[in-house]
Amino acid sequence: MPIGFHGIDLRTGNGSLSHKQPIARAIGRSNQTVVDATAGLGHDAFLMACLGWNVHAIERHPVIGLLLEQSVEDARLDPQLSMNMGSRLQVHVDESIQWLSRMESNPDVIYMDPMFEPRKRSALPRKPAQVLRKIVGHDDDVMDLFKIAMKTARNRVVVKRTDDARPLVEDPDMCHRGKIVRYDVYLVKGDNHG
Ligand SMILES: C[S@@+](CC[C@H](N)C(=O)[O-])C[C@H]1O[C@@H](n2cnc3c(N)ncnc32)[C@H](O)[C@@H]1O
Repeated sequence: MPIGFHGIDLRTGNGSLSHKQPIARAIGRSNQTVVDATAGLGHDAFLMACLGWNVHAIERHPVIGLLLEQSVEDARLDPQLSMNMGSRLQVHVDESIQWLSRMESNPDVIYMDPMFEPRKRSALPRKPAQVLRKIVGHDDDVMDLFKIAMKTARNRVVVKRTDDARPLVEDPDMCHRGKIVRYDVYLVKGDNHG
């Protein structure tokens, strides 16, 4: 995905800003706060903010984090982007595992889109994704993040995967499929109401 949010489809109806989109169904309308624990360049976090959720976007890589902060700043200065985003997107350049353990009020949803090892025979990803992969590498500690996410989210953890990839953890409670990605939803069964 490109840097910045200018190219993003902001159409409602059948566009990206529809609550019928798989990402919106995965997050769930009754939830209000989302932590995007693997924010990257912020495309998903921006969409979730435009769709109405209050989003904390956490990115640990300092360069990617800086680009993300810049994109949000630029969006604040653009009348159309800022009208859609409102004041619902906060960026934190930090390690999510630590950030989540410091949270005082638990978020309803924790969203994860980690960088997985590419499969050997898969087609090359798009150029911006290749660049991101070169800069951040793979996220080998994804299971540690998932475990703390399940202990911290009040309601659910959502993991984005490519459509044909195995789930990060077997037996998600729900799957919402898009054209090339899938959102696996893990419902929190205990009491994480902090
Ligand atoms: C595939 S990218 C996310 C793309 C993002 N969903 C988007 O729409 O732009 C994964 C990002 O998560 C970040 N990341 C992975 N694990 C993290 C962690 N524990 N804490 C903070 N950032 C993390 C990586 O540095 C990388 O930039």
